[in-house]
Amino acid sequence: MDIRFVTAGGGDVLAVMASEGGQLSASAQSVDAAGGGRLSKAMGAARFTGGAGSVLDLLAPEGVDYARVLVIGVGKAETADGMAVERWAGHAIRRVLTSGAEKLVLQPDALPGVSKAEAGAHAALGARLASYRFDAYRTKLKPDQTPSLKSVEIVMEAPAPARARADKDAALAEGVFFARDLVNEPSNVLYPASFAERLRDLETLGVEVDIIEPATMEKLGMGALLGVAQGSANPARLVAMSWNGARTKGTRPLALVGKGVTFDTGGISIKPAAGMEEMKGDMGGAAAVAGAMKAIALRKAKANVVGVVALVENMPGANAQRPGDIVTTMSGQTIEVLNTDAEGRLILADAVWYAQDKFNPTAVIDLATLTGAVIVALGHEHAGLYCNDDDLAHAITIAANAEGEAVWRMPLGAGYDKMIDSPTADMKNISGKPAAGSIVGAQFIKRFIKDGVHWAHIDIAGTAWKPGPYEDPLSPSWATGYGVRLLNRLVANKFEE
Ligand code: BES
Ligand code: MN
Ligand code: ZN
Repeated sequence: MDIRFVTAGGGDVLAVMASEGGQLSASAQSVDAAGGGRLSKAMGAARFTGGAGSVLDLLAPEGVDYARVLVIGVGKAETADGMAVERWAGHAIRRVLTSGAEKLVLQPDALPGVSKAEAGAHAALGARLASYRFDAYRTKLKPDQTPSLKSVEIVMEAPAPARARADKDAALAEGVFFARDLVNEPSNVLYPASFAERLRDLETLGVEVDIIEPATMEKLGMGALLGVAQGSANPARLVAMSWNGARTKGTRPLALVGKGVTFDTGGISIKPAAGMEEMKGDMGGAAAVAGAMKAIALRKAKANVVGVVALVENMPGANAQRPGDIVTTMSGQTIEVLNTDAEGRLILADAVWYAQDKFNPTAVIDLATLTGAVIVALGHEHAGLYCNDDDLAHAITIAANAEGEAVWRMPLGAGYDKMIDSPTADMKNISGKPAAGSIVGAQFIKRFIKDGVHWAHIDIAGTAWKPGPYEDPLSPSWATGYGVRLLNRLVANKFEE
């Protein structure tokens, strides 16, 4: 979709802003005046309060050259932030995308905490994110299910600063869409080898892409990763994506590591049938890392960032690993696999070790749809954050809040670590107790983080996709692309020169 900034707009539909208390924004007031007060009149008649996401839909109002005017609320003006403007634009897109209208004009205004230029840029990003579709397999879309909207104009008196920001944000949206596409794809299409091939495409953006196959994993001693993969007819891949944007030679990189289980049946510890189809999204961590690498490369970030994703399919079968098997990791540590469904931590054990061994990063951040337990703890509102460094945890939280991808910090501790001691191997992959499941998962990964390396684990099991039909205007498909914005912002805030 074509999004541009203009000083004066024209089209089929106009969207203006209002805030809580039924307060029209400055430019909305001019529209109201031009229409002889019709907007205010309609607001009164419809109990429109300007609450966040509330929409007043006016058809062909007199005195205004639009077939439709949408007054959309941003909530309380004092607390409305950039994300509120994004959702404002998102609601406009949701209303008109398949409505038959081809051209939408957005009229954002400054808010107490958002400058006009920021409002313009956020409106553009919100419009972009809300226009996402995953229609690749829908061959019978009816006309009224097909997007009609072709272009969006954003009206600003001085568009230049907003335009500059929006260009970077367009790179970010590309990264988010890449992640969403990967998570939405079914597992017969997206398996480790085909996933790796899609990552290969990042080479055209200047990303170095190294695809490691099982024979090399064998040589490197990645017994935990290979143990998970051995039950599947689709062999594993480990992909390292390097973006070297730092000007200073030899800057140690930030390493992003992603869990990429392209389908998780649970293996021999098989999952129940109901809802198992959701496990096509068990590569959401890898998708977030891939999307972040794409955004970082597209906007030519002045930072060194390496993305490492472990790609496997967790299947039962004649060759599958059994509960009780003991595997030796690349780190040399051994693991007793008591439950083959706790596979994410097994592949991450080798992936985070590889990332540290090969790239000597200053910090490692892993993202994974690791545990159902994090959903019990935090639902679908926050991802779980586990971190061995307060500064990094703080920086991640700031980035997360700024981008509307909330995290909640959870504890780590020696008592939780003890829960995975094994009498037979160095550790076991589950505690066996129905307690602190998401923390235990984090403690397991921590055993593969070298001394002195700052590390964060983000459990995105509750946020990588949406449960049922709940409405986020910025994330219209099942997959959310969660993590791309957070990581991109973190790199911009903390890792760029
Ligand atoms: N991929 C799942 C976790 C998951 C569950 C993600 C629901 C998204 C939604 C993971 O591999 C898993 O199966 N974890 C087990 C761990 C248990 C065996 C210790 C779980 O959460 O039940
Ligand atoms: Mn599992
Ligand atoms: Zn899994």
